[in-house]
This record gives sequence, C-alpha cells and structure tokens, in this order.
Amino acid sequence: MLDQLKEIEGRALEQLSRAASLEDLLALEQGFLGKKGELQLVLRGMGALSKEERPAVGAAANELKLRLEGALAERRSALQAAALARELADPGFDPTLPGPAPRMGLPSAGALHPMTLVVRELEDIFSSMGYTICDGPEVELEHYNFNALNIPQHHPARDTQDTFFVRHPRAGKAQPSGRVADGASDLVLRTHTSPVQVRAMERFGPPLRIVAPGRVFRCEQVDASHEHTFYQMEGLVVDREISVAHLIHAMKTLLREIFRRDVEVRLRPGYFPFVEPGFELDARCLFCGGSGCAVCKHSGWIELLPCGLVHPQVLRAGGIDPEQWSGFAFGLGLSRLVMLRYGIRDIRLMTGGDLRFLQQFR
Ligand code: PHE
Repeated sequence: MLDQLKEIEGRALEQLSRAASLEDLLALEQGFLGKKGELQLVLRGMGALSKEERPAVGAAANELKLRLEGALAERRSALQAAALARELADPGFDPTLPGPAPRMGLPSAGALHPMTLVVRELEDIFSSMGYTICDGPEVELEHYNFNALNIPQHHPARDTQDTFFVRHPRAGKAQPSGRVADGASDLVLRTHTSPVQVRAMERFGPPLRIVAPGRVFRCEQVDASHEHTFYQMEGLVVDREISVAHLIHAMKTLLREIFRRDVEVRLRPGYFPFVEPGFELDARCLFCGGSGCAVCKHSGWIELLPCGLVHPQVLRAGGIDPEQWSGFAFGLGLSRLVMLRYGIRDIRLMTGGDLRFLQQFR
C-alpha cells in the first residue's frame, strides 16, 4: 500500500506540473484528493491491513495529502501570477487611464455642517488676532461650571430646570430620574463654555487670549428656538489694564469679520456673576437694518453677545492676581449666529441630522 501511495504521488506531481489552467487544477484536486479521489480509494482498503501495518499507512497517507495540497496551492498562485502578467502586457491595457469621475452633488460627495463652517471661519479670525483655540470637557466639574465662576449655591442658574446633573458613583443622593439634589453630584453637562475660562487661566497663566467653541447643554423644553444641545464660543483676554474700550473694540472687530461689514452695536447692562460690569451686546438687525422685522421682533436690535470684564473672584479662582491683571470675556451664541448667517428658522434643524437640510451646505 505504501508503494501505491508513492505511485499516486509521482503521477499527481507530474500532472500538476503540466496543468495549464485553474480548471485543470480543480480537476486534479478532485481526482486525487476528492471524496471519490484516488487517495480515498486507497484509504478505504485499509480495513484489509493488519493492526500493525495500519498506523504507518495512515500516517503516510496524511503526509501525502498535505504535500499534494501544498503543491496545488503553489501551482495555483503561479498560474494566477502568469495570468496577471499577461493582462498587464496586453497593449490594450493602460494603467494611466483615470477612473470614473466622482459624481459631484450626490450625497456620497460629503459636506460640512454649517456649524463646522462657521466655527472654522471664527477660528481663523481669532487665531489671526493672536488668540489660542481651546477645548474643554462637555461633562464638567461643578467647580468649573459654577463655583469658580462666582456662581453661588443659591443662584438660579444651578436650578435643575437648567442643568443636567450627571449621576456619579460619588453622588449619594441620585434620584431615579438621574438628577440629583443640588450639590449631591460634582459633575454636570456644562451649561455654557465659560468653565474653559478658568481652565485656561490655570493652564496658561497671564497674559492670555483664548477662544473656546463647543457644545453646551441645558434642560430646555425644545421648540423652534430652544434646544437642549447648542453651541457657544467663549472668549477670554487677560492682560494689564484691560477696559471696556478693549472689549467693545474686540466685539466690533469680530462682528465686522463675520458679517463682512461694519455692524452698529449697543451695550445694555446684563447680569452674569462672573463679570463686573456685565453687558448684553446687541447688533443692529442685519435683516432690516433697524427698521423692524420678524427676526429682530420689531425692535431693530438682535441680542448677540453677552460679555463683560472678568470678575476679580474668577481671576482669583484661576490663580491670577486681580490687583495685577484684568480681563474681558464674552460668550458668543454660535447656534444663533449660524442661524442668522444662513437664515435658518428652526434651531432643531441644527442637530436633527436631516440630510435634506445638510445637503444645502456644500
Ligand atoms: N456663559 C454665559 C451664558 O451662557 C455667557 C457669558 C459669557 C456672559 C462670558 C458673560 C461673559 O449665558
């Protein structure tokens, strides 16, 4: 039987070396290794062997099988390589021909979200004025979101109406809703980008100029002008003897760059615990020029930029001496700005992911 296996091997290898196509290989594989192949026929005769002879024949048959499989695979790749070489040598084949053109205008071409477009533009404007672009965590410590910003425990901004508190292993008093009683958790979804002010002070020290665009969250009843998730861009400048004049100049420059024309502004007093004095900066309505329209609710002005001089307590919280340094801060409502810029009437479109909406910005 061992002789028989030897004879099969010789014949198989000889035929294999003459195989000229993948079909030939398949036929050989079936003829020798298949269910009704020659090897199987031999193995079926093993019953007639003595107990002593059987193991040696079994082992030899297995080895033969492995060798033939290896030889088949080798021959297959040689045939495939030869076929490819023939194809490349064909004078009709030109590998330098361009592929099919990308189909512009179809969804597959991709596009940037209007928020991304505006944020990129703002980052360009501010980095050209020497500002550093900063980032901060969306899940924020209460310390940075409130305490360090001079927002005391009892301030209404902490009210669970506005703040998403985060359930946290260390928060003992978490309720089934996931909300916790005031002070029980030290983590919140940041309600504004202002916590980045203090993080930047700690990180860079004075003097500094930063902007920090990003997502913020508030527990809002959602409608056409309110979302639980929206965007702001924080700005902070700390230097020697910073005054309201610096603040107004920076805001006017910012608006001129964004809207590509001079924008008339006015300041009204505004209360934010982390600035003193604090302002609401309004821009002359960009749609009606001040005569009154639906966008400005017939007032002629659009509320755009809360801002002010940094409160000494906040500088202290950031490790900066308020006797030596002063600063201004602003909180640009990015969602509002993008909506003004593109005439978007419903804030829910901004995070809704509707492709019919998104495909318009390419
Ligand atoms: N963080 C404030 C808000 O979200 C806005 C603000 C930023 C006001 C910076 C003053 C200075 O309402």
